[in-house]
Amino acid sequence: MPVRIAVVGAGKFGQTHLDVFTQLGDEGIELAAIAEADPARAEALRARYGIPVYADHREMLAKARLDAVSVATPDHLHRDIVIDAAAAGKHILVEKPLDVTVEGAEAMVRAARDAGVLLQVDFHKRYDPDHQTIERRVRSGDLGDVLYGSVHMEDRIEVPVEWFPHWAAASSPAWFLGVHFYDLVRWILKSEAKTVYATGTKAALLRDHGLDTYDCVNAKVDFVNGAAFSFDTSWVLPKEFEAIVNQGLRIVGTKGVFECDSQDRGTRSCIGGEGMATYNANFKRETIDRRGRRLLRGYGIESIEDFAGNVAFLQAGGRLSDLGKGVWASGEDGLETTRIAVAVHESLATGRVVRLR
Ligand SMILES: NC(=O)c1ccc[n+]([C@@H]2O[C@H](COP(=O)([O-])OP(=O)(O)OC[C@H]3O[C@@H](n4cnc5c(N)ncnc54)[C@H](O)[C@@H]3O)[C@@H](O)[C@H]2O)c1
Repeated sequence: MPVRIAVVGAGKFGQTHLDVFTQLGDEGIELAAIAEADPARAEALRARYGIPVYADHREMLAKARLDAVSVATPDHLHRDIVIDAAAAGKHILVEKPLDVTVEGAEAMVRAARDAGVLLQVDFHKRYDPDHQTIERRVRSGDLGDVLYGSVHMEDRIEVPVEWFPHWAAASSPAWFLGVHFYDLVRWILKSEAKTVYATGTKAALLRDHGLDTYDCVNAKVDFVNGAAFSFDTSWVLPKEFEAIVNQGLRIVGTKGVFECDSQDRGTRSCIGGEGMATYNANFKRETIDRRGRRLLRGYGIESIEDFAGNVAFLQAGGRLSDLGKGVWASGEDGLETTRIAVAVHESLATGRVVRLR
């Protein structure tokens, strides 16, 4: 019996979810249905995939035979879908961030726990092989005690302005980018945030594009284990920048230092008309399998595949409690990361240090 998975929200990133579940077709995973609110997009999906496409996730949950649901709607629209899917007994993958409120994230975690279903958050930075090396060396004590570190993640300006202008003002560099690394650093340190202080600037996006949101958010997070991290996030890099995203991290401990350029992995090009470019092939790359089919690989793919694997394990009789030892991020991880991002915005609004514990 194949594991039947549906995708809710088939926009820019939902397409990656559709690609992953489709390419797992030979491995016991079936893309069984889609819920997509945009009528024209829904029609195109119906024609392309030949499966039921619903306008509303509730109708889909009532009519389609499903084991799991993968949610890729805008950040502030995850909550009801996750709670409804849990109530219907479906396992759930949800795009980062779990929710943009602590109350919402708590309600989602509770709903999944009460229903006894898997709630997984797509924090794919945990699957980057370089980040996994750092996590392993920190866990085994090779760096000693982690003292401090710094993270940067910066998108080119077309991401908020052209990719999702309809909901960018409801988001921020902290929600869209910061959460990736708030979660990654928690996972590497095995420690939670204690205090948060943040500053930010609103100028270019509001002035030039009418988007009332931050250009940059700069957060300082002190963790319970004593490590101090700074997270610099922005989404106003010029279009001429060499990649759609710039990202990296440094971690300094009592016995060593790790530095990772998480964007530029060493390959660069300059093609006429395109300018200089660098590549993060770790994230997503195309390959061809032995039957000549296009296949996507990379950590952006693996994290979604890992959810399908977890659901297959559960459908085969595995227990939820046995899944706790993997790389995957749980609803509780999503909740802790939302706590940090909410504290970042509270600090931005008040100018104060926010104490989480
Ligand atoms: N993991 C990553 O690297 C990554 C990258 C980009 C975006 N994301 C996340 O993915 C999510 C989606 O972002 P996006 O850029 O694809 O946004 P998008 O606006 O391109 O797509 C969202 C889609 O959801 C649909 N939708 C909205 N409400 C719906 C509902 N109630 N039911 C069904 N469909 C609904 C919209 O019509 C749209 O097609 C966000 O949470 C975002 O943060 C993750």
